[in-house]
Amino acid sequence: MRQSGSYTSRRRPLIAGNWKMHGMLDEAQQFVADLGNIASPDQVEVALMPPYTLLHPLSELLRQKGIQLGAQNVYYEPKGAFTGSISPLMLRDAGCRYVILAHSERRDIMGEANELIGKKLAAAWSAGLEPILCIGEHLEERQDGETNAVLRRQLAVLEDAPEGAALTVAYEPVWAIGTGLTASPEQVTETHAFIHEELTRLGHDCRVLYGGSVKPENAAELMACPGVEGALVGGASLQADSFMKIVQAAADVAAGE
Ligand code: 13P
Repeated sequence: MRQSGSYTSRRRPLIAGNWKMHGMLDEAQQFVADLGNIASPDQVEVALMPPYTLLHPLSELLRQKGIQLGAQNVYYEPKGAFTGSISPLMLRDAGCRYVILAHSERRDIMGEANELIGKKLAAAWSAGLEPILCIGEHLEERQDGETNAVLRRQLAVLEDAPEGAALTVAYEPVWAIGTGLTASPEQVTETHAFIHEELTRLGHDCRVLYGGSVKPENAAELMACPGVEGALVGGASLQADSFMKIVQAAADVAAGE
């Protein structure tokens, strides 16, 4: 059984691949072919978040492999004149169980702030989707000792969440995303402990994933940190081989505890 800081977790870790704006149909088909007969190990839940255009084509193929499907974003209205937007029910219709919300790329490039993120959370829950809420500090914020204050402000979107709402949180330090830099095990352990404490204060007891340059070489060390219950993987999820090595590392850690 995993001992995670001050609490005990019996939850299955989640390894989720965020393809971001990558992936053509032929590449997605190749990814599935490369998975071959590898089944997801029982100890770990596996999910893939391809771009919208690949949701329908991948839905059935991934289901056969026991891999869950998710989207990278959603709009909060159920339907209507919102050109270019995708609703939570459309994601359900495409077979999604998860939706990533508030990724730092959406916060920083598209200017998404707490008010919008709160609306998207509510819409995801009412459609039966499980949001993966991303939080994380910039390098200057960490250097200025602001990490916990930033995370607390980002988690404030959960203040009005319905009790027992399905939720996963992903801690992704912005300075570790796509840079090859990973947070050290000490930084990850300390920050995950703070996030779990904050979630408890807000009435949530949910998985907290780590994200930021997770690769086959560092996955076992990161997954073994107390309070880490999976990973949100960017670049290394684009190839079946490296993604499944990370899945296996997480399964080994889960099985050994
Ligand atoms: P990388 O794994 O490429 O650093 O991306 C992390 C991430 O942003 C996942 O959402």
